[in-house]
Amino acid sequence: MCGIVAYIGWQDAMPIVLDGLKKLEYRGYDSAGLAILEDKKIEIRRVAGKVAALENLVCENPLVGSIGIGHTRWATHGVPNEQNAHPHMGVSDRIVVVHNGIVENFLELREELVAKGVEFKSETDTETIAHLVEIYYRETNDLVLAVRKTLKKLKGAHGLVVMSTVEPEKLIAARLGNAGGVALGVGENEMFIASDIPAIVNHTRMMTFLESAHLAVVTRDGFMLQDLEGDSVNGVVEEVPWDAVAAEKGKYRHFMQKEIHEQVRSLADTLSGRIDYESHRIWLPGLNLSAAKAKKIKKIFITACGTAAYTGMVGKTLIEQIARVPVEVMVASEFRYADPILEEGTVVLVISQSGETADTLAAMEEARSKGTEVWSIVNAIGSQAMRVADGSISMQVGPEIGVASTKAFTAPVLDLYMLAVYLADLRGGLEEARRIELIEDLLSVPSFVERALAREDQVREVAERYKDMQGALYLGRGINMPIAYEGALKLKEISYKHAEGYPAGEMKHGPIALVDEHMPVIVIASQDPWYDKMVSQIEQTKARNGKVIAIATDGDERIGELADEVLWIPAVPWLLSPVVTVIPLQLFAYHVAALNGLDIDQPRNLAKSVTVE
Ligand code: M6R
Repeated sequence: MCGIVAYIGWQDAMPIVLDGLKKLEYRGYDSAGLAILEDKKIEIRRVAGKVAALENLVCENPLVGSIGIGHTRWATHGVPNEQNAHPHMGVSDRIVVVHNGIVENFLELREELVAKGVEFKSETDTETIAHLVEIYYRETNDLVLAVRKTLKKLKGAHGLVVMSTVEPEKLIAARLGNAGGVALGVGENEMFIASDIPAIVNHTRMMTFLESAHLAVVTRDGFMLQDLEGDSVNGVVEEVPWDAVAAEKGKYRHFMQKEIHEQVRSLADTLSGRIDYESHRIWLPGLNLSAAKAKKIKKIFITACGTAAYTGMVGKTLIEQIARVPVEVMVASEFRYADPILEEGTVVLVISQSGETADTLAAMEEARSKGTEVWSIVNAIGSQAMRVADGSISMQVGPEIGVASTKAFTAPVLDLYMLAVYLADLRGGLEEARRIELIEDLLSVPSFVERALAREDQVREVAERYKDMQGALYLGRGINMPIAYEGALKLKEISYKHAEGYPAGEMKHGPIALVDEHMPVIVIASQDPWYDKMVSQIEQTKARNGKVIAIATDGDERIGELADEVLWIPAVPWLLSPVVTVIPLQLFAYHVAALNGLDIDQPRNLAKSVTVE
C-alpha cells in the first residue's frame, strides 16, 4: 500500500530515491519523505502530498550522501500530514525506518513504549518500529539482532527498511507476511531496495525478492539473507525480464490511457508462447497439469478482488461453457471468512495484477490450509501470488501503473479462455473442429481490440455530452454482466461519479426506479446469446425517458434506432466479446475523468496494490 525505495552505493542517493518513489506513487500518494545518511548524520525531508512536493522541497535544500531511504504513503494510522509521513526516527535520531503494512498490535506496543518513557512524535504505527529497534539496539549493541527482535514483536504483515548512524555502512530490509514485496536489486558496488520492480529496474535487472520472515543485511558489496533466528538463508538473483521503458507514459497524457492502448500488444503478449499454431493446441506449462490430473478436477473456485474478480466472473462462463467444469466465484475479502467448502477435486484459482493483494493472498493461505491445490493468474513477476501457487499463468502484460486496471483486466480473460480450452482438451471433451475454431477466434482478439480502440474519438464525443452527469447505471447479462460491473467500477474510481453495474434482468426488481431523463443507462448489447433481452432492456429504459448509451456491434440498425448514443464495436465471437465490449467503457470512464480535469492515474483514496486488509 505504501512504496519503499532505498539505495546504498557510490552514487548520490537522493535522485535515485526520488526517481524510485515517483515510480511507486501508484501504491500511495498522500505524503512522502526521504532520509539521507552522510558523515554519520541522518537528514530527513518529509511533506504532505505527492512526491513532486518532496522533490520541490529537496531542490531548495538538497541532501547529499550515498545511502538513503524513501517512502510514499497511503495513510492507515494518522492523517496524511508531514508529521505522519515516513521516514520515522527512534528517540535518539540514530535510527530511521520506512515501512509498508499495518502494525496490528500497535496500541499495545505504543502503551508499552509510553510506559517506558518514549514520546511519540507522530500518530503512526510505524513509529513504534523505530523505537523498538532503538531500544533493542541499546540492549544488544547489534543492529541486525535489534531488527530481528523487533520483527518478532510485530503482528501483521510488513515490508520495511532500517537505516542507522550506529551501523552506517548497511541497510536492513525485512519482510513479514504479505504486506507486499521487497525486491533487492544488485548493481556494481551498489544495491537497490524497493517495494516493486519499476522503482529500480532502470538501474539493474538483477534482483532477488525477500520471502516472508526473512531479512537482508545490505551493503554496497551485496547482501546476506537470514531468517528471524539469524540463520543464513539463500536467495537467488535472477534477471527480471521487464523493460524499464514500459513504465514511462510516452506520448500519452496518463498511464491509464497508455495502458488502454497497449492492449493490442499486451493481449498478443499474453497469448505468446501458449499456442501451437500447427496443432491448434494450448500449452500452459506453468500449471504442471497432466491429462490424468485434469480429469480429476471437479470444480474450480475462483477468488480475487475488484477488477480481477470481474475477470473471474467472465472466466466462470468460459470454463463452464468450454470445459464443462463447474466454477464458483467469490471475492477474496470474503473467502477466508466464509469457511468455503473445498472438497477433493477442487482447485482454487486466484487472479491478481499485483500478486500482493492482502485479501487474495489470505485466500490462498486459507485454501492451502484446507489442503487444496492453488493456481494463480498473476502479472507482477516474482510476486507472492506467483511464487506460492502450485501452478501459475503469467499475464505477461508488463507493468500496469494506472490505479484503474485495464490491461490487467483483458489479459486474464484470455488466460482463462486458454485455461478452458486446455482443460477441455486434456479432459478429452473437445472435438478437433471446435478446438480449431476456438483457437482461430482467440488469435483474432488483438485485431478486434485494435478496431475498438480506433473509435476513441467517437467515445470522447459521447463523454463530452455526459461529462456532467451525476451518475450512471451499467447493465449487462450473461458473459457481459461482469463488464457492467467493470465499466461502473472504472467510472466511479477515476471520475468520482456514482455508478452501479447491474445484471440487466434485475432492473425491474428495483433499480429501474432510478431511471429518468437525468440518469444515463449504459447497456452492453453485443451479439451474444442475451442480445434480445438487452434490446428489450433498452426499450424499457426508453419507455421511462431514460438516456441509453449502448455498446453495440457495427451495422446493428435496431440498436442504432433505439439508443440515444451508440459506442460501436466490431463483430466478435460471443465467448470473447467481454475483451472488446470493455474497451469503449474503459475509454468512456477515462475521457469523462479527463474532461473533468481529474488526477486519473492517482485517484483519491486509492492505491494500486492493496496490501492491507
Ligand atoms: O492487484 P490485484 O489485481 O490483486 O488488485 C485487485 C484490485 O484491488 C484492483 O483490481 C482494483 O479493483 C483496481 N483499482 C480496479 O481498477
